[in-house]
Amino acid sequence: MAVLVTGGAGYIGSHTVAALLERGESIVVLDNLQQGHKEALLGGKLYVGDLRDADVLDQVFTENQIDSVIHFAANSLVGESMKIPGKYYHNNVYGTLCLLEKMQEYGVGKIVFSSTAATYGEPENVPIDEHDRTLPTNAYGETKLAMEKMMKWFDTAHGIKWISLRYFNAAGAHESGKIGEAHNPETHLIPIVLEAALGKRPHISVFGDDYDTADGTCIRDYIHVSDLADAHILAVDKLRSGAESAVYNLGNGQGFSVNEVIEIARQVTGREIKEVVEPRRAGDPAKLVASSQRARTELGWNPGRNKLEDIIASAWSWHLNNPDGYSK
Ligand code: UFG
Repeated sequence: MAVLVTGGAGYIGSHTVAALLERGESIVVLDNLQQGHKEALLGGKLYVGDLRDADVLDQVFTENQIDSVIHFAANSLVGESMKIPGKYYHNNVYGTLCLLEKMQEYGVGKIVFSSTAATYGEPENVPIDEHDRTLPTNAYGETKLAMEKMMKWFDTAHGIKWISLRYFNAAGAHESGKIGEAHNPETHLIPIVLEAALGKRPHISVFGDDYDTADGTCIRDYIHVSDLADAHILAVDKLRSGAESAVYNLGNGQGFSVNEVIEIARQVTGREIKEVVEPRRAGDPAKLVASSQRARTELGWNPGRNKLEDIIASAWSWHLNNPDGYSK
């Protein structure tokens, strides 16, 4: 039996594939390579195709014995989702519908879903727990919430069990040094700060310093990508043991402001990093920090790589060795 990983050639997907391979799982990856990289796959059988293409899904499910699915394939940029929401509804929501219908058709009853803290919107309570209100402030978060709700109804009607993992801010790179974060274009804070440290950018733009936080910049909860990968494996095991559907937050429980991230990056890299304050970016909540108590208790998740210095150091090592990402 194999695990199907959609979006497995992407940043978090490829780190999860690496962790699944380390424990001897058979892996099938479906990725349209819009954001993913073939070189990011350390193994597994790759199908290059889109979730919205029924033929490619038929091929994947008929040629392999799939026991469970880990579903990463989606667009995931907050800023872009505010400019072209239709792209997010089409790829994320309709793509997930296509996948769930094929899972139903082929009798595959387990799915682990890559969700996000963006489903909460501006939180009522900090740290955020899974019972808190979900009121997204951006189209990206709204589509991920819609995908979760779709899974809920496919469970009610067809018994497909799902575990949704709501990540906070993924960062860092695999300890082997073989894979890391490489988006094109890059929009995430830590890789952009490191590109500025490398001299690939003249400065880092700080999007807003007038938020209601101690230094006025947005606060996020940064979590190592390999800790996220481990949680997916625990979630697959949980579903295989017959668990009911559930939602889990995955974060460190500690928030860092944009200014603090830049300062720690200066210390880790020993390089000068210039910053320029710019207007707020649409859709950004001021503060997102997780309570991951439920994942710790129910999944047995124990994120071990949680010092921000170490997370940034692992990303820095990847950037130094691969200044152009996966392109040679
Ligand atoms: N930021 C800057 N300058 C930049 C880039 C980012 O100031 O050049 C700021 C953003 O405004 C935000 C913070 O840094 O306040 C983090 O931004 P990212 O783009 O790195 O991450 P987001 O918090 O917007 O989103 C990320 C993922 C989403 C996920 C979310 C959950 O991209 O998929 O974390 O917290 F939903």
